[in-house]
Amino acid sequence: MFEEGQLYAPVTREGSDVTVHLADDHPGFHDQAYRDRRNAIAAAAMDWTAGEPLPEIPYTDDEHQVWVLVAAELTAKHQRLAPTEVIEAGERIALPKDHIPQLAEVNELLAPHTGFRYQPAAGLVPLKEFYGSLADRSFWSTQYIRHSSMPLYTPEPDVIHEVIGHATTLASPRLAALYELAGQAARRCESADALEFVSKVFWFSLEFGVHREGGAPKAYGAGLLSSYGEIEEFSNADLRPLNISSMGTQTYDITHYQPILFCGESFSHVEDIVGGFFADVDDAYYEELVRESVPTG
Ligand SMILES: [Fe+2]
Repeated sequence: MFEEGQLYAPVTREGSDVTVHLADDHPGFHDQAYRDRRNAIAAAAMDWTAGEPLPEIPYTDDEHQVWVLVAAELTAKHQRLAPTEVIEAGERIALPKDHIPQLAEVNELLAPHTGFRYQPAAGLVPLKEFYGSLADRSFWSTQYIRHSSMPLYTPEPDVIHEVIGHATTLASPRLAALYELAGQAARRCESADALEFVSKVFWFSLEFGVHREGGAPKAYGAGLLSSYGEIEEFSNADLRPLNISSMGTQTYDITHYQPILFCGESFSHVEDIVGGFFADVDDAYYEELVRESVPTG
């Protein structure tokens, strides 16, 4: 298995019992100790309220070893396949290489650079809430880590994705500004369709975006930066020019490598096109974009 999914396992609560419903092909499905810990981690996020200390997760040695292995591999890949803006942000935040950081440690490392702060999520956070909080420079993050039997694969976005993918990019003032603009866009849009459109532009930029640097495409999207396999493959995707109407309507399959990606000519080009869209979009602007993108004749 080499693909990296983006699908959160559903979480339910009955009374004090919190259950994370892993799919039957999840690497941790048959590991009861892992499942119990996943339930406890989800419960800690659900029980947390803003202003309280962030939940501390008792990771096992095996889990720390997963982080050690994957962090070393991804850091090396970033040197080759990420743009300067991301490499410098990674040096600035200097995430630990020898243990999984608690969210409080992520905040200590990240906030001094861009003011972004992490808060715990049990699993999927509703779109409006997830994106909207970016306007406050706040990032909802899961805390579980993938199963140690398959360290280079996860069917869900885990703490490696949230921290090595997102916190690294959030340590760049220019990338953090794009996240904040996306948050403001999500708050401005009132219709569900416009919000969905904004989330797709986010997906094809801050999650799976690439841009050219020195003639070669480089990955600045957190989904690529945290994927051991996909970061090596994105240059083989159909790299299309930045186009907001296409990005906002392009469908994607979260269980496979993305066959279509949108590539800026430079990071400034991404800031102009994607940042400009996030800065301007509202329900009326979205309607206009959709009308313009309907093929005529
Ligand atoms: Fe993400």
